[in-house]
Amino acid sequence: MKTLLQIKSSLNGDDGQSSYLSNQFVQRWQQQNPDGRVLVRDVAASPVPHLDGERFNAFLTPAEKRTPTEQSIVDYSDELIAELKSADVVTIGLPMYNFGIPSTLKAYFDHIARSGVTFQYTSNGPEGLLPAIPVYVLAARGGLYAGTQADSQTGYMRAFLGFLGLTDTHFIYAEGIAMGPEGKDKALAGAEQEINRTLAA
Ligand SMILES: Cc1cc2nc3c(=O)[nH]c(=O)nc-3n(C[C@H](O)[C@H](O)[C@H](O)COP(=O)(O)O)c2cc1C
Repeated sequence: MKTLLQIKSSLNGDDGQSSYLSNQFVQRWQQQNPDGRVLVRDVAASPVPHLDGERFNAFLTPAEKRTPTEQSIVDYSDELIAELKSADVVTIGLPMYNFGIPSTLKAYFDHIARSGVTFQYTSNGPEGLLPAIPVYVLAARGGLYAGTQADSQTGYMRAFLGFLGLTDTHFIYAEGIAMGPEGKDKALAGAEQEINRTLAA
């Protein structure tokens, strides 16, 4: 039985365009995998705390020296990582907010990047410790950025996910969402077609 992890990060919940596309992706995937399991991690609805000094120090503290509070911080991060590791496929709904990824998604990323757990440094440089399962990123933007230097998200996402070993990343864009109703409809229709093509391949 295959598992799909759906990560959502729209502050608009299921009304968000990235959530809409992400839900379309899940529906198509379920048609192809009727016995498949879908796990939902909505980091906007249930935010992961910001990574502050206390939390980061808990990650660095050896298990036998952790206080109960530190242990619960590590347990929480371990759960997020276990969830990710249980997936065969991941889809991420990615809105662009103020030229970056949602801060809620960044807080989640800060809790899955753990030295010795999801990455490690060797004499050859960094090594990702997660298996290279496919990750499908569904990016919704008000304007047009793909393929330009102003696209702050694609390079960052590839670099971050690749650092953890998730090197098989695929991007589908719905751009121009804020450029009038026609622009929005065209963007969503194009992205939906791309989702169908991708999952049919
Ligand atoms: C707080 C906020 C900031 C935004 N910043 C940008 C931006 O920097 N560039 C852009 O192209 N669109 C921006 N937008 C538009 C969103 O990218 C667009 O509405 C997209 O559909 C958001 O995804 P969502 O509908 O899944 O929430 C912003 C929207 C919001 C609510």
